[in-house]
Amino acid sequence: LVIVLDFGGQYNQLVARRVRECNVYCEIYSYKTDLEKIKEMNPKGIILTGGPNSCYEADSPTYSKELFELGIPVLGLCYGAQLMQHVLGGKVERADVREYGKSHLIVSKENSALFEGVPQESTCWMSHFDYISEIADGFEISSYTKDCPVASCENVEKKLYAIQFHPEVLHTEYGKNMLSNFVMNVCGCAGDWRMDSFVEEQIKAIREKVGDGKVLCALSGGVDSSVAAVLLSKAIGNQLTCVFVDHGLLRKNEGDEVEAVFGPEGHYELNFIRVNAQERYYEKLKGVTEPEAKRKIIGEEFIRVFEEEAKKIGAVDFLVQGTIYPDVVESGLGGESAVIKSHHNVGGLPDYVDFREIIEPLRDLFKDEVRKVGLELGIPEYLVFRQPFPGPGLGIRIIGEVTAEKVRIVQDADAIYREEIANAGLDRSIGQYFAALTNMRSVGVMGDERTYDYAIALRAVNTIDFMTAEAAQIPYEVLNKVMSRIINEVRGVNRVFYDITSKPPGTIEFE
Ligand code: XMP
Repeated sequence: LVIVLDFGGQYNQLVARRVRECNVYCEIYSYKTDLEKIKEMNPKGIILTGGPNSCYEADSPTYSKELFELGIPVLGLCYGAQLMQHVLGGKVERADVREYGKSHLIVSKENSALFEGVPQESTCWMSHFDYISEIADGFEISSYTKDCPVASCENVEKKLYAIQFHPEVLHTEYGKNMLSNFVMNVCGCAGDWRMDSFVEEQIKAIREKVGDGKVLCALSGGVDSSVAAVLLSKAIGNQLTCVFVDHGLLRKNEGDEVEAVFGPEGHYELNFIRVNAQERYYEKLKGVTEPEAKRKIIGEEFIRVFEEEAKKIGAVDFLVQGTIYPDVVESGLGGESAVIKSHHNVGGLPDYVDFREIIEPLRDLFKDEVRKVGLELGIPEYLVFRQPFPGPGLGIRIIGEVTAEKVRIVQDADAIYREEIANAGLDRSIGQYFAALTNMRSVGVMGDERTYDYAIALRAVNTIDFMTAEAAQIPYEVLNKVMSRIINEVRGVNRVFYDITSKPPGTIEFE
């Protein structure tokens, strides 16, 4: 185990991911975590993340000196590096200019364990105002850049390493080597944490926990709940019941696809219940145009439907949740990055369902790891690599009132868009893309006739964390083809827009 102590930096999750990419298991904890607790966990290494503060200010996040005296290797990154120096007697000051972006890194110390296999000159990613002006006793500078005299320093004997730049960011060319050097060479981790062992261990743990109990799972067809369901199915088979609510706001054919995989004709041993609640949802959404009101109705209705099904099933022992690690961290439970977004999964926990305990088999995994587990479990690739789809579904991609007719239009347009993106080989490289139905109608001409139809908006964004995003630069020919197919094939549409707004100021979804 390697512990990442989070000081509120924007790349904290990235640090943990990079460590796991070395097949070393790691977890993120707040910098407020007690020293005693850290000792109990007995990690092989500790990484201190960056953060927005200045370590010399009185109320900035800090850690006691004892952390560096445990004999456990510590790597400080950015703020973490400055803090290490500050606490151990070095000096950190505000620089005249902020160093931000790519910098030319020069390794000046020979045989530094951290830079093994790293060329003497390479590119690193800097983002800081403060800098280490004097290193602490016992340390030696190991690299520098033009504007930063201490890009890294180390105390080999005490196994303390400080890096001012960000090795976790891909712009740091050899960043991954440096992190790997730290966890493997300095901390002596074995690097044998793998997905197949995760699957095996989870199945065993689930069997032990569940015994012959009954388990209920709300299946959305998204990656997380699908992988959780399959893991449970492999562990306990028919003791698992999955309820899949088709709210009529799914992508084209999605309901049937989910049923084909998980239903009686499908691949897995489990009880599958599909609830066709389309009409019910459309009825509730009639005349409602305000986005938050729509979201609320969709969420609440999900709870009602799920509740009714759960009542039919009766008491169960466990309820499965597809919670993944970023959910845990973002909800303020793991690291220090406060509550970034309140969890907007449909409706939240149904509090009336009669269950004893919650099972969250994916709680420790990142999204890409969930995908690996999915592949390991033999789940079809199109499900495993499905792009994120919001709980309220097409309800928030239809601006204004939702009707069955509008759902049909946006489903058809979206299916064409997805097909052409896949044909162009872009489906794995764009973060998220979809068609939305604007509430705008305009005049057009088709086959010599005047039309007065809807406009479709195409959205495609690239993003690391879905908190910020940029519009993807889709080749014009691809967009052109999508436009022409949508107008020719989807009744009720006579105009297509491509949305180039970034987030912020836009959001990814339209409502
Ligand atoms: P926004 O529109 O907030 O979306 O920029 C960011 C990411 O979150 C997804 N999203 C949701 N996911 N329930 C979900 O499960 C929701 O209510 C919801 N709203 C947005 C969105 O698809 C994007 O990936």
